[in-house]
Amino acid sequence: MSERTIRISDEAAGKVLEAPVISGSEGDPTIDIAKLYKELGYFTYDPGYSVTASCSSDITFIDGAQGILRYRGYPIEQLAERSNFVEVAYLLLYGELPSATEFSEFERDITYHTMVHDQLNTFIKGFRYDAHPMAIMAGITSSLAGFYHDQMDIDDPEQRNLAAKRLIAKMPTIAAAAYRHHVGWPICYPRNSLNYCERFLDLMFSVPAEPYKVNPVAARALDLLFILHADHEQNASTSTVRLVGSTGANPYACVSAGISALWGPAHGGANEAVLRMLNEIGDVSQVGKYIDKAKDRDDPFRLMGFGHRVYKNYDPRAEIIRKACHDVLADLGVTDPLLDLAMKLEKIALEDDYFVQRKLYPNVDFYSGIIYKALGIPTSMFTVMFAIGRTVGWVSQWLEQSANPGRIGRPRQVYTGKQQRDYQAIDQRG
Ligand code: ACO
Repeated sequence: MSERTIRISDEAAGKVLEAPVISGSEGDPTIDIAKLYKELGYFTYDPGYSVTASCSSDITFIDGAQGILRYRGYPIEQLAERSNFVEVAYLLLYGELPSATEFSEFERDITYHTMVHDQLNTFIKGFRYDAHPMAIMAGITSSLAGFYHDQMDIDDPEQRNLAAKRLIAKMPTIAAAAYRHHVGWPICYPRNSLNYCERFLDLMFSVPAEPYKVNPVAARALDLLFILHADHEQNASTSTVRLVGSTGANPYACVSAGISALWGPAHGGANEAVLRMLNEIGDVSQVGKYIDKAKDRDDPFRLMGFGHRVYKNYDPRAEIIRKACHDVLADLGVTDPLLDLAMKLEKIALEDDYFVQRKLYPNVDFYSGIIYKALGIPTSMFTVMFAIGRTVGWVSQWLEQSANPGRIGRPRQVYTGKQQRDYQAIDQRG
């Protein structure tokens, strides 16, 4: 807490609040207005929370103007190039990179918890075959609470840690089961001799009838995408996890709420929407028409995978994914005309005044779907892939919150409805 204050004065009422300015270790200064109502009798109005910090956190730092993203101080570019997803998970959860022993213990724990209770598979079978996998993910994650009710004391750090590991370990198993239910394949059990991403590909694509060999290029590509998706400070889904967490709800309920928030097309659902949009555009010759639609205020169409609340510069994750897209497609020997289309769309948008003035750049979702598609992952599973990676961020943020619980999250409103009026009997209403 700094000694600087900002003077907020209501001259008509003759009242003044000296509001402290909080400076984090990095980032913009923030005015602490917690005493505003008590001292001056005002609330603040900030729909969409554009300028409101809901918590303080040590986990992830973003500088949207510069296009910077760091997990626990480490630049995303370094982690993407040199780390792996399980190590990044450890870093996000516990704050430091693990030693070799810590890493192997953590990896063993994550591997040990990959199976789910067989009754959960019965739940999955209860869904219609064409249920969206995000619906299955949200439902099954929430129902995990029913299986661990005696190990969910959120005041016990060990039980919290166990729940965090369980969620990270089981998410790929549940995701793959949701997919297999859709295509009518038998449930596959996790092969713990494989690493996290290899195991997921095996869970998704192996069939009892013939051997399946994981492609290491595909496993590494997946690992990279999970690293990039792992955390992004107080985005809509993470804020949802924290809001639910502030009530003291169990971690499975919190993460299930996060999955539901992620599903929306303005958030994680955008990766699915990007692929659908590129398919709809269909050809480079149509790009101009769709750019015009995106600029038209009377047309609800938006360029999916473009724009971000925080980044007013190139999203550093998009930069990494765009490069990876070329490398992965080349390594897998895949040619996808959608990549050319996406690049053309990006080029035209970045030169267009509308996008330049509003500082709209490609975000993490713009290119990720093209890689997922090259790995054989169907479009309806794209947001599920995001959820697997982001589970690490959700549980890290939940652990941080639960270790030091604050007050319940409870925003206020500006009421614009009717003022008091008297009830009338039904036969007296005009
Ligand atoms: N296409 C066309 N115009 C856009 C787009 C877009 N993708 N994004 C923003 N704009 C325009 C808005 O219409 C607005 O124009 P105006 O000032 O003339 O009214 C201006 O840019 C500012 O946009 P806001 O909607 O105020 O920005 P906000 O921060 O509220 O929304 C969001 C951010 C939701 C990401 C938005 O850019 C969007 O809808 N993008 C497409 C969906 C998407 O890719 N979402 C994924 C985000 S990343 C993630 O969650 C993982």
